[in-house]
Order: sequence, then C-alpha cells, then structure tokens
Amino acid sequence: MTTRHCIAALAMLTASLATVHAAPLDATSLANVTANTYANVQQVRTRHVALDLAVDFKTSELSGTATLELERVDPAATQVVLDTQDLDIRKAETSVDGEVWLKAPFTLGSSDEVLGAPLTITLPADATRVRVTYTTKPQASGLQWLPPAQTLGKKHPFMFSQSEAIHARSWIPLQDTPFVRATYEARIHAPKGLRAVMSADMKDKPDASGAWTFNMPQAIPSYLIALAVGDIAFEATGPRTGVYAEPAMLKKAAYEFGETERTLQLMEQAFGPYRWGRYDILVLPPSFPFGGMENPRLTFATPTVITGDRMLVSLVSHELAHSWSGNLVTNASWNDFWLNEGFTEYLTYRLVDMQFGHARGDTERVLGLTDLKDSMSHLDKIDWSLVRSSPPKDPDAVYSSVPYERGTLFLTWLETQFGRPAFDAFLRGWFDDHAFQSATTAQFVAYLQDKLMAQQPGKITQAQVDTWLHQPELPDFAVLPHSDALTKVDEERDAWLSGKSTLEALPAAQWSVHEWQQFFDNMPASATLEQVQALDARFKLSQTHNAIIACAWFHVAIAHGDKAVWPAAQRYLGSVGRMRLITPLYRELIKTPDGKAFAEQTYAKVKAGYNPIAQQAVERILKGASGG
Ligand code: BES
Ligand code: ZN
Repeated sequence: MTTRHCIAALAMLTASLATVHAAPLDATSLANVTANTYANVQQVRTRHVALDLAVDFKTSELSGTATLELERVDPAATQVVLDTQDLDIRKAETSVDGEVWLKAPFTLGSSDEVLGAPLTITLPADATRVRVTYTTKPQASGLQWLPPAQTLGKKHPFMFSQSEAIHARSWIPLQDTPFVRATYEARIHAPKGLRAVMSADMKDKPDASGAWTFNMPQAIPSYLIALAVGDIAFEATGPRTGVYAEPAMLKKAAYEFGETERTLQLMEQAFGPYRWGRYDILVLPPSFPFGGMENPRLTFATPTVITGDRMLVSLVSHELAHSWSGNLVTNASWNDFWLNEGFTEYLTYRLVDMQFGHARGDTERVLGLTDLKDSMSHLDKIDWSLVRSSPPKDPDAVYSSVPYERGTLFLTWLETQFGRPAFDAFLRGWFDDHAFQSATTAQFVAYLQDKLMAQQPGKITQAQVDTWLHQPELPDFAVLPHSDALTKVDEERDAWLSGKSTLEALPAAQWSVHEWQQFFDNMPASATLEQVQALDARFKLSQTHNAIIACAWFHVAIAHGDKAVWPAAQRYLGSVGRMRLITPLYRELIKTPDGKAFAEQTYAKVKAGYNPIAQQAVERILKGASGG
C-alpha cells in the first residue's frame, strides 16, 4: 500500500467512525424525521442490514429474513420499533453475538395507509441484533412484479424495487428514514436462468448454493436499497461503468450511455472523488415509474430515455450527480428533500454545460423552469417553498418539480452572488465535510453562513435565504435562465399560429426533443383545433416513438379538444408507466366530464401494467387531489 492509499484508507475509516455516533436531533429535525417513520431513532439505530430472500414469481412474493445490527443510542431502551407496510411477519429473534438467537416477543401495530404498521420487538438488555422472518405481499408498494408480456423479451418475468421515499418498508422491515444509515449485504435466491442485481458490489455468477450475493460497504439510507430480478445481461461501457438490460435492449443502452465515464470524470474534477467503486445503469421495462433512481453503484433508468441520439442523457448526469448530493450527503428527512434534488439538478445543468455547451445547458434550464411553473400551477401554495413548516406525511403526495427547479434557482443565485470559484469550493466542502452523513436544511444554512456569508459579508442577507427556503413566491431577485434556441421556437410557433408563416415553413426536421417540448409546452390556448390537427397530419405526432414528444403532443391535443387522438393517447398511456409522462395527460383529461370518463376508463384498462407508486399517483389525480 502506498502512503497515498494509507491516507485515503484512514480518511475513509474516520469518515465511517464519525457516522457511528450520530448526535441527538433538535426538535425541528426530530419532527421532520418522525413525520414519516415509526422507528425509535433516538434510542436505537440500525448500522447493518443483512437480507436473505427468496424471489417467488408464482406468488409475487419475497420471503426470508432481515437481520439488523443495532447501535443502542439509549442504553435503557427495551425495544426497537421498525417500519413495515403490508408485511407478513412470521417470527422475531434477538441475539447478543449473532450466534445464539432467542425468540423475541413482537407486536404489529394497526396499519396506516401511508406509513404502514409499526413492528415493535422487545430487546433484552444486551442484544444488538434482531432477525425478522417475513413474507411480502403481492401488492407491496415498493415492488413491481411483471409478467413476461410486460418485458421486451416476453419470455421471462421481471421484478424490481423502488424504495424512495418510504417504500423500502413494504419489502424489508427496517428503520425506514434517511436519518439512519446502514451498510448492507444480501443473499438473493432467484429462479434458475434469471439474474438478480442490487445497489451494491456484486458478482456476475451466483454462489455454489445458487444464491446471488451482494455487499454494500458504505453506510446508506434505506431508500437506496434496491433489487431487480429478470433476464438481465451486462455490457461494459468503460473500466468502471456499464449497462444492465434485457438482452434485446443491451446494445442500444450501451450506445446511449456510452459517455458515462466522461460524466464521472467531470464530476470528480469539480467536486471530488467518486467514492462508490463502480457506476452501472440498469435499464428497466417501460413501467418503471421514474425517469431514473440513483441507487448507489446501480442507477435504475427508464427505457424512455433511450432514443438513439443521446439527447436525454442528462438523466444519467442527474442520477450520477446524486452520488455526491443525496447518496454521499443525504437529506436527513423528506422535508429536506431539496438538499437531494435541488443540489443534484443544479449539478446536472452544470454537467450539461460542460458536456454539450452552455446553449444546451440553458435550454434544459428553461425547460426546467417551465416544469416549475407548471408544478406551482397545480400545487397548494404551502408546497411552493423549499421547506414546509409542517412536514408532509406522504412524500409521494407532494412530489413535484419545486425541490428540483426552485432548488436549482436558489443555488444558481448563490453562485452568482459569491462567484463560481468560491461557490464550487463551498459545494466541494459541503460534500467532503458531510460525506456519508445525513444533513438537515438547518445544517446547510449554518454551513452557508460559516463558509460563504461570513467570508464575503454583504453579498446576501439571511432574509433572502429565508425567502428561498420558506416563502411561497419565487423571489423577485431570482436569476432566471434564457435560451436563444427556445426563444426561436416560440417565434416560429407564433408566426405559424398568427398566419405570418406556414406549417411547412416550421424547421421541425431540425428540432431536437427539447425544441419539440418547447413548441408544445408554450402552445397558447388560442391555437385552434384545426391548427392542432394540422400538426398531427403533417408530423404524424400520434405515432412518434419518442415518449417525451408523445406526452407533450397528447397534452396539447387533449387540451385543445382534439378527441381524434384519444385512441392513440390511450395506447400510449398503456405503453409507458413513467409518472412524469403519464400524469400530465390524466390531469388534463379530467378537466372535462367526457375527458374524465375517458381517463377513468383508460386507467381501468391499463392500471395493471402500472407500478404501485404510479397507480397511487394516478388515483390521486382521478380523485381530484392537488399534487406536483
Ligand atoms: N431520486 C429521484 C427519483 C425519486 C424522487 C423517486 C422521489 C422517489 C421519490 C431521481 O433522482 C430523479 O430525480 N428522477 C427524475 C430524473 C430527472 C430529474 C432527470 C425523474 O424520475 O423524473
Ligand atoms: Zn434526483
């Protein structure tokens, strides 16, 4: 080992020791944390999770054991409380040494629709381990079980997890809060011929007993534990990067994500080393409910970004940037979510600038700002700020572009006030000083005061910071993005709509997906039904294979009363399950009685193919609830 390696190893050791004895929480943070968990984190904290689970595609169940190693923060604690949701708990045991196990009394409390049921296990005085034997339910909100018909290959079933924000508890009994960090290991017993992958170090073959084995040596929050099982193949795209996908998708995915190593290097140059070893991407079937999910070492991604032209790869930049903002420094509670997503989205745009030039970065920023305004238009005002005064019980119900895009604008404003060199050093320091820790907004504000405001006094005021964090309206001093390319699209659209130009004259053949988005996103209400229908006739929009363009197009067509697109829109809604690409259409449809009936009929038809999290999101819309 060289001296440099020794120092690095020592630094990692001190970093992990520093996280072992976490400080007690202040009142606000405790209220934020306990809004979404039953866990008695003030008394006991999980430090390691070991899973041993069998995957049964016939019953759509996982079953086996979860063993938790506990730190007893309060030596007087007599029990540990875990989060569960729809779990069948068979047995609980405790152990002092991990060798001898004693059956432990446990109770499963009454179940709350959002939070699930608390599992309370009695802890003998010196016990530091609990082992729970359990089975998941087919309707587990954090799992999706796909029959072969819903895969590309059509031969094998597929299953995957989505734990963020509070769905890990539906497949593992644990302290399901990002305040608690644990290392993990797993043994997964999958049917012969299928491969299991997880957000951890993994081998490319099962062990002698046929189990796939995993190890995550860095402490992570529960929402980053992830599993997928299916006909999954691998292709390397670089020395530490690669793609996992169904065989029929592998080549396309490897091309689309071929620049990942370069993105990693750009992040490392600016914000410090990548500390997770490998960075791979798993491409999921189309029902994956998100664009991407930053599961450590193994980002989960929607196939809708694989368009053959690498135009949507900022999604990879985003998930990869989470390796710093989110996975390394984690929001301590879901009320601090902007610390994860605002930082990450800000970094994403910076990466796009570096990789594709500032013009494309600004294009993506402007589209982000449009998303923000759209979110604000259907959210309650209390969800316009970055942090809520009372934490929401269900993070999914308030999910929106606000933490992403308002967070980006906040950080962009800070960058502008303090200058990029100082701001970059600040960010790097934030990651280094809080590495492998969960952080609160209050900690961020204190760090900002210490490292920037005190160093460059008079540049910004505390009142301005509070406006960004706590007030609903966007500050009038915000620095807003501008894109010449998108302004040009606005001009071209408006010239056509006003009759100054023709449809034939639109330079649409040269438009990228972003220009199409702009074309549709800013379509004025005054555009006539004839004009909208002429678009479809000319550009065959209802038949596009690009799901982003399809979503934007159907949205415009529905909003302008073009019922001719309904059958195609229904097919589209049955082919994609990414929430961002389906919820806008349901939200638009329910604005008229006919549309609402059609939305309900469509949902009934396609529902079985949606992820449980997407089902809940659509059902909230159909019920008329506000949301992002
Ligand atoms: N961590 C999020 C996805 C998420 C957020 C899942 C909250 C569950 C609860 C992920 O990093 C993300 O932001 N995905 C975006 C990608 C986009 C901003 C490039 C998405 O899915 O749309
Ligand atoms: Zn994100």
